[in-house]
Amino acid sequence: MQILLLGSGGREHALAWKIAQSPLLEKLFIAPGNAGTSGCGENVPISVNDFPGIKRFVLEQGIDMLVVGPEEPLVKGIHDFFLADPMLRKIPVIGPLARAAQLEGSKDFAKQFMTRHQIPTAAYKTFDVSNIEEGLGFIRSLKPPYVLKADGLAAGKGVVICLTEEEAQREFISMLRDARFGQASASVVVEEFLSGIECSSFVITDGNSYLVLPEAKDYKRIGEGDSGPNTGGMGSVSPVPFADQAFLKKVEDRIIRPTVEGLKKEGLDYTGFIFFGLMNVKGDPFVIEYNCRLGDPETESVIPRIKNDVVVLLNAVAERKLADHTIQIDARVCTTVMLVSKGYPDAYEKGKLITGESKVKGSLVFHAGTVIKQGELVSNGGRVIAVTSLGKSMPEALALTYENAGKIEFEGRYFRRDIGFDL
Ligand code: AMP
Ligand code: GLY
Repeated sequence: MQILLLGSGGREHALAWKIAQSPLLEKLFIAPGNAGTSGCGENVPISVNDFPGIKRFVLEQGIDMLVVGPEEPLVKGIHDFFLADPMLRKIPVIGPLARAAQLEGSKDFAKQFMTRHQIPTAAYKTFDVSNIEEGLGFIRSLKPPYVLKADGLAAGKGVVICLTEEEAQREFISMLRDARFGQASASVVVEEFLSGIECSSFVITDGNSYLVLPEAKDYKRIGEGDSGPNTGGMGSVSPVPFADQAFLKKVEDRIIRPTVEGLKKEGLDYTGFIFFGLMNVKGDPFVIEYNCRLGDPETESVIPRIKNDVVVLLNAVAERKLADHTIQIDARVCTTVMLVSKGYPDAYEKGKLITGESKVKGSLVFHAGTVIKQGELVSNGGRVIAVTSLGKSMPEALALTYENAGKIEFEGRYFRRDIGFDL
C-alpha cells in the first residue's frame, strides 16, 4: 500500500522509519518531511495545512492511507475534509475528527470532558473578557503557584505558571485583554497547581478498543536540572521507572479507559493516537493535558520499543479491528537527546552545516529540523536532530546516546547532558 505521512519533525522521522520497515508498504510519501525522512520514502513539498494540495496529491498518486503527525491539521479538520469529499471519503485517515481533536484544541473542552467522565484533573474555571473580575477573584481564592492556560492552540507556549498572585493577575489580564496569545487566549483556563512528577502515556485507538503504547517522560526545559524556558522537548526516556505496574494500572482504569469510552459515548469518533500528559501526585495520576497525536521527542523513544509491524496496527485502526491485536514491547530502555540550535527556544539561526552523522554507531538518528541545500545537510529549525539509543539499562542507553550525540556537529549546537537525571 501507499501511505502519505504529514509532518516534518523528529516524530515524523521516527514514524517514517517504522512504517518503512513494513512488508505491507509499497511506497511512503512524507509531506513536507525533512532531510531524514527522505531516507525512508519520498518527500513531497506540500504543507500540512494545504488541504486542497493534499487532496490533489492523494488522488494523483493513489494513496491508500493518510497518517497525520502534528495537531494543527487535525484541529483544522483534515479528517472531516476527507470524509466530506466523495473522492476521498474511502481513504482512511489516522487522526481524529476536528470535534474530537478539541481534546487538544481547546483546554476548556478537555476540562469539561474530564469533568463529565470523572477523569482526575486539576480543579479549574474558565474565563473570558466578559468575566475578568470574577477570574481575578478566583485567582485570589487559590494558593500559589498559579496555572493559567490559553484555551486554544498556542504552539506549546500557552501555559504560564506564576509564583505570585500579583504576577498571575497581570498575566491573566494580558492574556484576555491584550490577546497575549492571539485568539488562543480569548478564553483562559485558571487551574489548581499539581505538585508531582510528570510522564506521558500514549494509546492507539480505533474508537472502540485501544492498545497502550510504551509510556515516556520528556524534558521540556532548555536548561540542565529543568531550568530556563520551556521548549518543544529536549529529550525523552522510555520506560519511566516510577510508572510501575500499579501506577500504570491506575492510569488505564482511571484515565485511558474512561477517555476512550467517554469519546464513544459522546459520539466523538476517534481513530488515531491519544497522548495523555500526566502528573503523578503521590502515586495517583492526574491529566495535565490531552494531545490528539503522538509527542515529540517522546515518539523517538516510544516507537523503537514497539515490536509490532506498525502498518498492521494502522490498518487495524482503519478497519476498526484493533481488538484483534496485542502490543509487543521491547523490554529495553530507550533514550533520546535532542540537538538544538543556538538561541532556541527564542530566535535562532538556520542553515548551519551539519557533520558527523556517518560516525554514529549503535544509535538511531532522527532528523527534526534539517534540509538538504545545494547537496549539503543543514539545520532548518530550533530542534535539529534527535539521537536515540536502546540499552539494557538507562545508564547504558544514555551512555550510547551521549557518545553518539557528541559526534554530530553544527555551529552553536546545544544539548542537555542530564536527560534522565531525575529518574
Ligand atoms: P501543557 O502545555 O498543558 O503541557 O503545560 C505545560 C507544562 O505546564 C506541563 O508540562 C506542566 O509542567 C505544567 N503544568 C500544566 N498544568 C499544570 C498544573 N495544573 N499543575 C502543575 N503544572 C502544570
Ligand atoms: N513533547 C511534548 C509534546 O509533543 O507536546
